[in-house]
Amino acid sequence: MFYKPTWWKEAVGYQIYLKSFKDSNNDGIGDLNGIREKLPYLKDLGITLIWICPFYKSPMDDNGYDVADFFDIDPSFGTLDDMKLLIKDAHKLGIRIIADFVMNHTSDEHAWFIESRKSKDNPYRDYYIWADGKIVDGVETPPTNWASFFGGSCWKKDILTNQYYMKIFSNKMPDLNYKNPKVRHEMMNVATFWLDLGIDGFRIDAVAHLGRKDELIDSTMDTLGKYKPDWRMFSNLPVIFDYLREFKENVFDKYDIVTIGEVGGGATPEEALRYSNLEAGSLNMVFNFDHCWSNNVWDLNKKEQVVVDLVNLKKNFRKWQYGLYGKAWTPIYWLNHDHPRLISQYGDPNNIYLSGSMLGSSLYFMWGTPFVYQGEEIGMTNYPFRTIDDFNDVQDKNNYYLNDIENSPNKDEYIYLMGIKSRDNARTIMSWDSSKYAGFSNVKPWFNILPNHKEYNVKKALEDEKSIYKHYREIFKLRANPKYKDTLIYGSYKQLLPRHKDVYAYVRIGNKKILTVSNFFNKDVNVSIRGYKVKKVLLSNYDNPNKALTNLTLRPYETITYLVE
Ligand code: BGC
Repeated sequence: MFYKPTWWKEAVGYQIYLKSFKDSNNDGIGDLNGIREKLPYLKDLGITLIWICPFYKSPMDDNGYDVADFFDIDPSFGTLDDMKLLIKDAHKLGIRIIADFVMNHTSDEHAWFIESRKSKDNPYRDYYIWADGKIVDGVETPPTNWASFFGGSCWKKDILTNQYYMKIFSNKMPDLNYKNPKVRHEMMNVATFWLDLGIDGFRIDAVAHLGRKDELIDSTMDTLGKYKPDWRMFSNLPVIFDYLREFKENVFDKYDIVTIGEVGGGATPEEALRYSNLEAGSLNMVFNFDHCWSNNVWDLNKKEQVVVDLVNLKKNFRKWQYGLYGKAWTPIYWLNHDHPRLISQYGDPNNIYLSGSMLGSSLYFMWGTPFVYQGEEIGMTNYPFRTIDDFNDVQDKNNYYLNDIENSPNKDEYIYLMGIKSRDNARTIMSWDSSKYAGFSNVKPWFNILPNHKEYNVKKALEDEKSIYKHYREIFKLRANPKYKDTLIYGSYKQLLPRHKDVYAYVRIGNKKILTVSNFFNKDVNVSIRGYKVKKVLLSNYDNPNKALTNLTLRPYETITYLVE
């Protein structure tokens, strides 16, 4: 084994969207004590690492990704003492906790920004990125034509000083200026504060955007619309690696922690290696999104169904599993809080157990550290949004109002299509049981509850003989089993049948060989896999799985994992 064993390579992660996970004090909002209550549940699933979405003091424009005070917990989520208790109890159960470190921006209600906007010579002015507007044909426009991820321009004019501040997300999320060493120093203090409190590392939010093109020049991208989605202007630029090196040397290296950067959609495996290569990377791994959208949801017409493009999905798996193995480490995950639900994206809402368990085996026997997203383990689905009032997400709402959809004849279609992709799908209330408020709270929660929580919930998943939860638990038991660990954690990955349209098959090779074959669709499929002999079936989602790899008929959504030779 050439990978040096570390706890985070062997961990099983679980992402918690705090606001929707579990409300312990009946105010309708999830909180830290709610997580503490559910630690035994997570332990039973096999989880050894929790990533908690931002819990800092925040006006909640973006549900906590807009931080007003990095050194305190938002009162709706609890207190610093609650956090200390959570860390202590989790550690007792062998579960580590990582925080979402929001490095790229603050809230406009953060004390630094309140100062910064006051005057051009304020000592905090340079904590953010300010520029004059441009006069084009006698009309003032923002400093550049770059778009924001959340709609409109990535600049917002502030009348107090008549300049624009950069904000690549919402108007209430001004970008920090990492060129300023004082900002880097302040943010290193933030990281140190949480690590000293006992946090085991960070998922670093939007890390790809910490550097911007030096020259404020317009994008020449040929797209409709005033503002150009030319993310190259502020993504994965070389200067970021200098900043991160400073964080690594001054902070990260002093602790036994894990750091995972979010590099998003644009990054290639080569770029990922710059962040996380084993020799010189500043982070331990990075999240990319390439495998998240291998279907037609972006070009969907209201009358069409969502259809999985398995050949493309497999291509993306090859690109990352082959591209990074031996050179870096990687997380493996199906979705996070910014994506639609897995069952609605790649599975089948009419076959939740079968498709959900199949998707679990297809991903979590691959190489990397698993991250399960809350509710994935019970097959939570997308929400049936009907009107704009059913949405909460600042991104969706901005786009709806900026494009004046309210007055468009295509309003219903827009809502339908936005609902399929919306980040809000991942943020609905966790379905704990079939009661009125889904066992989340005794009062009406802050957000939507899935109508199918009555049939699909944690209580039921624990009672049912077969459930996605139980299937996931078996996967994680196999990953932790000393007999298979060398293969399932550290072994290499080889994809089989790359051009097959219906079947995903791969083998992990370590001191043993473990082969997983999955039928992604609702029909019988016949395949023959040559070159391997079945020794035994390790896991499957049907009774009596076939034990021969030649002329193997897989039933709808059937998945089988074999020990082979
Ligand atoms: C997070 C989003 C958030 C954005 C701004 C991301 O990439 O995952 O949820 O809206 O950063 O903080």
